Amino acid sequence: MIRHLKLVLVISTSICLLVQSKTVNKDRNTPRPFPKGFLFGTSTASYQTEGGWNLDGKSENIWDHLTHTNPCSVKDCSNGDIANDSYHLYKRDVEMMRELGLHFYRFSLSWTRILSSSFPNKINDAGVQYYNNLIDEMLKYNIEPMVTLYHWDLPQQLQLLGGWTNPHVVDWFADYARVAFELFGDRVKYWVTVNEPRQICYQGYGAATMAPLIAIPGIAEYMCAKNLLVAHAKAYHIYDKEFRDKGAGVIGISISADWIEPETPKDTQAAFEALQFEWGQYAHPIFSEAGDFPPVMKERIAAKSAEQGFPRSRLPEFSKKEIEMLRGSSDFFGLNHYSTNILYKNASTQGIFEKPSFYDDIGAATYQRPEWPTSASFWLKSVPWGFYKLLRFISDEYNNPPVIITENGWSTLTGIEDDGRVAYYRDYLDAMLDAIEDGCEVIAYTAWSLMDNFEWMQGYTERFGLYEVDYNSPQRTRTPRKSAFVYKQIIRTNQLDYDYVPDTNEMTIDEGH
Ligand code: BGC
Repeated sequence: MIRHLKLVLVISTSICLLVQSKTVNKDRNTPRPFPKGFLFGTSTASYQTEGGWNLDGKSENIWDHLTHTNPCSVKDCSNGDIANDSYHLYKRDVEMMRELGLHFYRFSLSWTRILSSSFPNKINDAGVQYYNNLIDEMLKYNIEPMVTLYHWDLPQQLQLLGGWTNPHVVDWFADYARVAFELFGDRVKYWVTVNEPRQICYQGYGAATMAPLIAIPGIAEYMCAKNLLVAHAKAYHIYDKEFRDKGAGVIGISISADWIEPETPKDTQAAFEALQFEWGQYAHPIFSEAGDFPPVMKERIAAKSAEQGFPRSRLPEFSKKEIEMLRGSSDFFGLNHYSTNILYKNASTQGIFEKPSFYDDIGAATYQRPEWPTSASFWLKSVPWGFYKLLRFISDEYNNPPVIITENGWSTLTGIEDDGRVAYYRDYLDAMLDAIEDGCEVIAYTAWSLMDNFEWMQGYTERFGLYEVDYNSPQRTRTPRKSAFVYKQIIRTNQLDYDYVPDTNEMTIDEGH
């Protein structure tokens, strides 16, 4: 598997030609093959699934703190104290991976399970043992671990020091990363430094819609962005210099990116600019030729800051050294993609947002079309052509990097007849194949999620799993949904077959897994 990725990394310079728009393949009567060696996985994250929040030396992180001090800030007043109890039930999780026939499984490490004090002065052996057990159980069945170092659960102690807005976080994160590489680098070949910088910085520090629920808009999210990016780059270079030879692995970042479609041709420039703010902010410093924050952000925020009476831009600057350190600091573009928004900018969108704020800096408004198929999450509608356009954009904008889809998925309420999820996965995979056909270097796909889990501020009310989890049973019983059978068939045959109707009576483990 790693051989395949390396090969792709080497030959990934073929440029994807710009086609204005491609009508997504509609011949659904013939099964459509994925490229030979294409990799399929599923993803979860530590706080959303592990539970065991205070067991065996694990200390408090920002989600433990938020849910314990302000329980009903979460929709159903729930928390991740037990979650899916994967801390105890990891063997069942691996069994499900085998049932699906996964090539890899993406999960994240809990910083405070490994380093109880937040710092590397003392390693928590029991926490390390848990991850060794999980990794070894997966490898026993040839399932590659893909490990995310940070999926939103910062040590609470570091939050008290300002969290991602304190520049010292660069060293704290780098120290933690080095510990993880030392402990698991012999067996883990796929690393993701940080999951979704936008959600961490904008939602955590600007909009206060995620832990640590800080609302200092237009300022704190930009401080976070700079520190987070430098921390990522530092971890990347530690791996590159000290560990890559030993582990022969790859390391990158996962960026959440929705597609932004202009409402009319006159909104095209505004849509491009909004995209640079929304996620180009994190991609441009790493994947563009020039590096640094996108020029439109630097100019716009500097101008607005001056108008608003700030003595300097609210967007912190990178030093020359930091710009160089960031450029190229990802072996692949880790893409988390879920949906699409329509954008317009006119007189009515000026002055409607709080000042200063991220959205005032963007100065445009977005919406989703009511006729698009709707999930259980208000922000998630099915727009497969947006996925296609996004993949083309990434390819054209950043010189066709290898892309790993590190998340893509659909929410429902409870119930195992999840036809909406089946339709979403099929349509998005179809759109992805269109992009691959055009030359985009998509090399792997990860479904979010293996199983239902703690959906952050929505608690357990929105379900993203291929497997349903029964939160009323002490065993947290996991039951395959229809989509699990469909995904299994896609992986087994390496093709997309719209006509396949699964027999959902029994889930088995096929030969070889
Ligand atoms: C996050 C996951 C989350 C999923 C669905 C992604 O933004 O990485 O943790 O559960 O979306 O909301």
